[in-house]
Amino acid sequence: MSDRLRAKVAIVTGAGSGLGRASSLAFAAAGARVVCADLDAASADETAAKIEAMGGTALGIGLDASSPDDNDRVVAEAQARFERIDVLLANAGVPSAGSLTDVDFDHWQRVLAVNLTGVWLANKAVIPVMQAQGGGSIINQASITALVGFSGVAAYSAAKGGVVSLTRQAAVEYAEDGVRVNAICPGTIVTPLVTETYVQRGGVDGRQRMSLDDALAASASRYPTKRLGEVEDVANLAVFLASDESKWMTGAVLPVDGGYTAA
Ligand SMILES: NC(=O)c1ccc[n+]([C@@H]2O[C@H](COP(=O)([O-])OP(=O)(O)OC[C@H]3O[C@@H](n4cnc5c(N)ncnc54)[C@H](O)[C@@H]3O)[C@@H](O)[C@H]2O)c1
Repeated sequence: MSDRLRAKVAIVTGAGSGLGRASSLAFAAAGARVVCADLDAASADETAAKIEAMGGTALGIGLDASSPDDNDRVVAEAQARFERIDVLLANAGVPSAGSLTDVDFDHWQRVLAVNLTGVWLANKAVIPVMQAQGGGSIINQASITALVGFSGVAAYSAAKGGVVSLTRQAAVEYAEDGVRVNAICPGTIVTPLVTETYVQRGGVDGRQRMSLDDALAASASRYPTKRLGEVEDVANLAVFLASDESKWMTGAVLPVDGGYTAA
């Protein structure tokens, strides 16, 4: 345990799995009390139980990130339990496969509703609390698909591009209130979201059908580091952005991608 986030309260959406769970555990290990929110309430409770087991403090809670009422409820419960909110990691997301001409209207709407509107709603719900407190740190989970083109992920990329733009917009809008807003753009890290995307797409980009293992290996070979990332790679950056160590950073869009977008 460290004290980089001592006395801070963090909300993490999509905390029941993958990057959200790893970041929740890392926040707790750095001394934060963590509200772990997820559509799958049982998995959110599981993350919270892991934090309690390591001696930390956490609250597991159900949340549909695409619901305005749910976001308001989570913020109200966080305040009722911990009396402040210093950090939001808006991380909940759904997988999506298909080119612009493949995806149907309902799929497009659902992906945008969770992966973009969900980020807006979470930001919207916490910003007034942070303004009243004199500041806070918001971290929005984007993707390298917001920065460079990838085949076979049209709705997902559009949503993540929106997250990057919203992050910059909010950073400028609320800087004078002490509310910092930054975005992380992870490269590929094996989680249920990634394996589901690859399975749905039938390969690394939908152009050539291959097994999941072959698709993951093909993906890794496209990275300068020749390997995929680990959930901790993103969690470590999230801790830095959540902490006062990054106090002059806002509006930053940061790839964690083994050099993919540098190549
Ligand atoms: N894994 C990667 O390679 C990668 C790369 C770039 C960006 N990301 C982003 O990171 C975030 C987390 O992804 P992950 O890879 O950890 O996936 P994951 O599937 O392991 O976790 C996603 C979590 O979000 C939850 N969730 C889904 N819909 C929700 C909703 N409507 N409301 C609340 N929670 C909901 C799921 O239940 C799950 O626990 C996503 O926004 C994803 O787009 C992941």
